[in-house]
Amino acid sequence: MKRKSFKSLSMALVVFMTATMVFSATVAAATPSGTRLKDIPANGVLVGTEFPSGFNTMSDAATFLNVAKSEFNMVTAENCMKWDATEPSQNNFTFSEGDKLLNWAQSNNFKVHGHALVWHSQTPHWVQNLNASAMEAAMYNHIDKVMGHYKGKIPYWDVVNEAFEDNGTYRNSFWYRALGKSFIDKAFVRAHAADPNAKLIYNDYNLEYTGNKSNTAYNMLKDLKSKGIPVDGIGFQMHLDIQYKIDYDDFAKNMQRFADLGLEIYITEMDVRVPDRPSQSDLKMQASYYENIIKKCMAQPAVKAIQVWGFTDKYSWVPGTFPGRNDALIFDRNYNPKPSYYAMQAALATGPIVHPILYGDLDGSNSIDALDFALMKQYLLGSITKFPSGAGMVAADVNASGTIDALDFALMKQYLLGSITKFPADK
Ligand code: G3I
Repeated sequence: MKRKSFKSLSMALVVFMTATMVFSATVAAATPSGTRLKDIPANGVLVGTEFPSGFNTMSDAATFLNVAKSEFNMVTAENCMKWDATEPSQNNFTFSEGDKLLNWAQSNNFKVHGHALVWHSQTPHWVQNLNASAMEAAMYNHIDKVMGHYKGKIPYWDVVNEAFEDNGTYRNSFWYRALGKSFIDKAFVRAHAADPNAKLIYNDYNLEYTGNKSNTAYNMLKDLKSKGIPVDGIGFQMHLDIQYKIDYDDFAKNMQRFADLGLEIYITEMDVRVPDRPSQSDLKMQASYYENIIKKCMAQPAVKAIQVWGFTDKYSWVPGTFPGRNDALIFDRNYNPKPSYYAMQAALATGPIVHPILYGDLDGSNSIDALDFALMKQYLLGSITKFPSGAGMVAADVNASGTIDALDFALMKQYLLGSITKFPADK
C-alpha cells in the first residue's frame, strides 16, 4: 500500500511537471503595467526597435512579435538591409529578408527605418577592392537599387554610417581612402535622387556628447547644409554602458546645436550595457540612464524617433562583442519588463516640453526690442543668415507667411513704435 501510493505520487508528479513545462513553453509574456510605449502621447515621436534576421521563424517568434506589436511603431533591420545582405556580389541584389520585414511592418502599421547604405562594416570585399571610380559607381548603383526597391516604403534611411573615429578624425576606411571626404556628400546627393521623399540620416555612435567626434560630425553636417546637400537628420546610436558616466546636460546641449543646423534627431540604437548577471542596483542604474536620456529627448522638439537596439536581452549583439557585459535592453530573456522598461515609459510620459514662440524675439532674450529689429534688418540685408536664438527663424516670420521679408520688418517697426501690440502670427 505504502509502495503503491509512493508510485502513484511519483506518476502524478511527472504528469504535473510535464504539464507545467508544456504550459510554460507556450505561456505569453506578462503584460507590463501602465501604458504601452507606443501609446504614450509623445507628440508623434516614434518608438522603435531592431528586429534580427529570421525574426518570424525564431522558436519564440509568436511571443517576440506580440511584445513588439504592443510596444513599438517603428522597426529597423538589424542586419538584413546591410550591403553584405542586399548585394553580396556585384549588381546581384537579394531583398527577400528585407522584404519579409517590410511586409510585416506594413501589415502591423510600423514605420521602417532603413539601415544602412554606406558603411565600412558588413560591406563585401568586392567593394573594398575596387579603384576609386569603380567604387563610386558601385556606391551609386547600390544606393539606386536598394532605395529604388524600397522607394516610397521606407521613409528614413541611414545613408552614411560611422564615418568618424572616436578621436574625431575621418575613419580610415576603404571609402575614405578611395574617395576622400567627398563620399559622404555624394552618398547623400544620390540618396535624395533615389527617393526624394525619404528622410536622409547620418548615423554614428559616441556622438552623444560634445567632444572631438561630435565636433567633427557637427562640422561635416554644417558643411553639407551650407552647400545645400540634402541631409535631414542625425542619428545618435546611443550604445551606452553604466560604467561610463553621462553628463545629461551636455547631451541636451549637443542635441541643440545639431537641431540649430535644422536637422531632425533620431535616437537609433539605444542600449545600456551592465555586467553579466547584473545586481538589482546595476539594473536601477541602467534604468536611470534610459530615463534621463529619454527625458532630455522629450524636451527637444527636433527628436523624431527613439529606437532601442533590440528589446529583449535574449537577442542582443552585446555579449558577443563585449565579454562580461550583457542585459542592455528593456525586457529580460523571458520577456518580463525590467526597471529600464518602466524608466522608458516614465520618460516618454513626460511628453514634449513645448516652448511657446515669442514672435519678434530673434535673439532669445525673452523680449522684443531694438536689438531684434536690428537683427531683422541685418538678415534682410544679407549680412547674417540666421538669428542667435534657435527659434529665431520661426520667430522672425511675424506674419506667419512662410518667409521672412519686408512685411515682417514693417510689422516689427510698428510693434516697436506701439502702433500694434501683437503680430498676425500670435494666436
Ligand atoms: O551572417 C553570418 C553567418 O553566415 C555566420 O555563420 C555567422 C558566424 O559568426 O556570422 C553571421 O554574421 C554575423 C552578423 O551579425 C549577422 O548575424 C556577424 O558575425 C556579426 O558580427 C554581425 O553582428 C552585427 C554587427 O552589427 C556587425 O557590425 C550585429 O548583429 C548587429 O547588431 C550590429 O549592429 C550595429 C549596427 O549595424 C551599427 N551600429 C552598431 C551596432 C552594434 O554593433
